[in-house]
Amino acid sequence: MPRTATRLRRVSAVPELRAAISEARRDGARIGFVPTMGALHAGHLSLVERARDVTQVVVMSIFVNPLQFGPNEDFSRYPRPIEDDERLAEEAGADLLFTPTVADMYPEGRTVSVSAGEIATQWEGAVRPGHFDGVLTVVAKLFNLVQPDVAVFGRKDLQQAALVKALVRDLDFPLEILVAPIIREPDGLALSSRNRYLNESDRADALVLSRALNAVAAAFDSGEIHTARLEEIGNSVMNSVKAAATNYFAVVNRDTFQREEIAQKGSAVIVAAKLGTTRLIDNIILGENDSN
Ligand code: PAJ
Repeated sequence: MPRTATRLRRVSAVPELRAAISEARRDGARIGFVPTMGALHAGHLSLVERARDVTQVVVMSIFVNPLQFGPNEDFSRYPRPIEDDERLAEEAGADLLFTPTVADMYPEGRTVSVSAGEIATQWEGAVRPGHFDGVLTVVAKLFNLVQPDVAVFGRKDLQQAALVKALVRDLDFPLEILVAPIIREPDGLALSSRNRYLNESDRADALVLSRALNAVAAAFDSGEIHTARLEEIGNSVMNSVKAAATNYFAVVNRDTFQREEIAQKGSAVIVAAKLGTTRLIDNIILGENDSN
């Protein structure tokens, strides 16, 4: 079915969303879904494009999900530039923008939630306890509300993407998950809504993440396969910038997130570090072009 250019329609109430979705389904459209927390940038918009390639109606959600923020995290100061976001979502070709309130998503009396399991206890999950339970709970709710055929996530949040795939597999959600490449600034910094917190010197120092990942990928390409050695190379680049406090730097299996002693093509190198008050994450897949 060919796409027709439509104006973006914004809905906040759940019944209105359900009505819009049934209408699209009646027309026989395949539905693509891009969940976000807003403060949109080219990374988010690339996911809309990917969804448009394979579906006829693209739904984007913007919801800053309180369940996935820890008590000392940035929930209240998370950027919420909704007018800019609405314009960007429309320009990218989204058809429907779902912007529920916290009360729409979590009415009083809620008791059931998703437990993310083993993968979620490590790396991001270890630094942010409960984070992935919060992510998977909101993603499961959004999947049930939007009922998409395809949902697109960014490789930028690789552990999240692995967990969303596990959610779909383990709880039998009837949809396909696509994982899209990381969109970067020309100098290598991965785009993130949190980059706007960085001051000028943090912004310059933040390049150390992609530099360390590239150094490890280059060492792998030259034949180094021992994880301990690859991690040493990465950590030494990270340590060259005093202002960067590394949370973890590791070579893992990209699906299970288990550390691998011997790295292989397709292994993931993951890093998280704090620059000033801002926590950044990034990753690279060994033996693959970063734009895959
Ligand atoms: P958010 O951080 O807004 O990210 C929304 C989607 O955009 C995620 O799939 C993320 O991986 C992707 N993304 C972010 N930066 C990207 C980049 N530089 N290149 C490509 N894709 C990028 O992730 C969340 O929101 C939330 O946890 C959510 C899944 C919406 C649940 O609340």
